[in-house]
Amino acid sequence: MIPASVIEDIKYRNSIEDVISSYVNLTRSGANLKGLCPFHSEKTPSFTVYTGDGHFYCFGCGAGGDAISFIMRIENLDYRGALEFLARRCGITLPEDDGGREKGGVSRNRVLEMNLCAAKFFRNVLFSPEGQAGQEYFAKRQLSGATIKHFGLGYAPNSYDALKKHLHSQGFTDEEMVAGYLCQRSKKNEKNTYDCFRNRVMFPIIDTAGNIVAFGGRVLDDSKPKYLNSSDTPAFRKSRHLFALNYAKNHTEDGFILCEGYMDVIALHAAGFENAVATLGTAITADHARIMKKYTDKVIISYDSDEAGQKAADKALRLLGEAGIEARVLTIPGAKDPDEYIKSYGREKFAEVLRGSLSGFEHKIHKVLAKYDLNDFSNADIKARAARELCYAIADTESKVERDIYCQRIASVLNVDISSIKSEVTGILRREAAKRKKERHTQVVRITSGSGDRVDPDFVKAPGNVRLEGAVIGMLLLHKEYIAFSKDKSILSPEMFTSELNRRLYEKITGTPDFDFGMLSEDFTQDEVSRAAKMMSDRKGLSNSKEVFTDCAGKLREMTEKLKEKQDGADLRDIIERRRKEATNNRK
Ligand code: UTP
Ligand code: MN
Repeated sequence: MIPASVIEDIKYRNSIEDVISSYVNLTRSGANLKGLCPFHSEKTPSFTVYTGDGHFYCFGCGAGGDAISFIMRIENLDYRGALEFLARRCGITLPEDDGGREKGGVSRNRVLEMNLCAAKFFRNVLFSPEGQAGQEYFAKRQLSGATIKHFGLGYAPNSYDALKKHLHSQGFTDEEMVAGYLCQRSKKNEKNTYDCFRNRVMFPIIDTAGNIVAFGGRVLDDSKPKYLNSSDTPAFRKSRHLFALNYAKNHTEDGFILCEGYMDVIALHAAGFENAVATLGTAITADHARIMKKYTDKVIISYDSDEAGQKAADKALRLLGEAGIEARVLTIPGAKDPDEYIKSYGREKFAEVLRGSLSGFEHKIHKVLAKYDLNDFSNADIKARAARELCYAIADTESKVERDIYCQRIASVLNVDISSIKSEVTGILRREAAKRKKERHTQVVRITSGSGDRVDPDFVKAPGNVRLEGAVIGMLLLHKEYIAFSKDKSILSPEMFTSELNRRLYEKITGTPDFDFGMLSEDFTQDEVSRAAKMMSDRKGLSNSKEVFTDCAGKLREMTEKLKEKQDGADLRDIIERRRKEATNNRK
């Protein structure tokens, strides 16, 4: 636990306005500040910063919190990491980490230290006689000594305990090795552990701060799985890390080149394209896209040329587009992937391919036209089908200007009249709009009826109560001076909360000495913290006097009692009904 006084210091010296405005352009709007939400893509600002009480809330996506949870989200850090980040920002040193540990009792720092130790071990093995197989493999893949060093590559020996023994000698425990995904527990005997990575060439994954957060390991032959990647650990979330981002972030003049694999990235960097990155044994996620957007607005997708690669490219186009990135796609002629292409044709040729990258729309046209036989366009039926498909692609384009340009292009490619293309597109847009309107309507119905609330599933049980509980918690968060008073059992008590989330919030708020909103991030999920921020935000501009607070608490007590009576009544009816049934059965 980090002392309340330190948290208070950190928050005092990092005003929310100051922290957030290093990421978001904020403009004044009444008493508050507004900007475009960094956590979802939007065109009109719904991200609101309440400078007075140091919290933010986005009415678009529901993200909310204080400076600490903002940093957790945007910098992809855990609670302690965010506090360290903010502390560094204002020159405070945090007390040593003792109790503030991760789930399973292993801290992120320990995993990072252990990973560094393991990476050194893998590298030393690679350059020892035992590492010959690894050396030979890299030679076969034409990696130079300089490249191997640059990426800190290594080799995991063909042994079940070589790494484990080494890490033991360095003071790491079995528990830490398992939590860091370097060792696994034996299925036969839980007490035994063994090395995860054996007889593989090793690729350390390094974050932008230079920490080794995870590893990928490739087999030397054709056995399966080809690559083994660390699963999520206290130091690593694979949906949020990109291979080689630590280097690529300093070479973004031409944006990023996004590849599928480790070897593609390494080959590209070696050839001078140091802006290449790859996701790690996973498809691109919205988090990846947002992380890239922090460094550049341009990404060229350079996936494998097979069908799977092209499908993945479509998904990447969409996610990158949604994050506000201008994404383009490469088609690599005559090679399976960028690595093979560079090896066969050299860097100059690849630079040419890069220049020929297609915009998302061009890529779509390409794909549609490839499905149909161009010469068959004399056949009106085929032409109409291609046209319809292309019109859907046009309708999918946000900007009206772009749509008009595309209509022209398609009309000339298919040699049809532009007016018919335009009216087809308009028709599609109208139908889509009607569909969306219907969807919006059902959404509103769902929200007002409270079903489908993922964050607080108890809402639907007693919406009135839960709303009132939210108001009470919102006031407690805004007016800390009510906290001491609300602990009085005659005012509020945990049993009065029908929502489990609200009860936990109430208990945390009243049970933590010198409570600060930032402390919620220690044991509530980001969604739950956001919900708490919403409770505050909902109370803005309303009267939150002590009388209002007391009235709300009183009303809540009344409502809880009624609810309880109803519940008891239902139970009683249940019992009577059961007795009645038993009696009839007995009579039979
Ligand atoms: P590829 O099979 O295209 O591998 O998988 P590659 O990068 O071309 O590898 P080489 O050239 O054969 O060495 C692309 C990426 O998918 C992930 C890895 O991140 C890999 O780099 N992958 C693939 C796995 O995580 N596990 C696997 O078993 C296979
Ligand atoms: Mn490859």
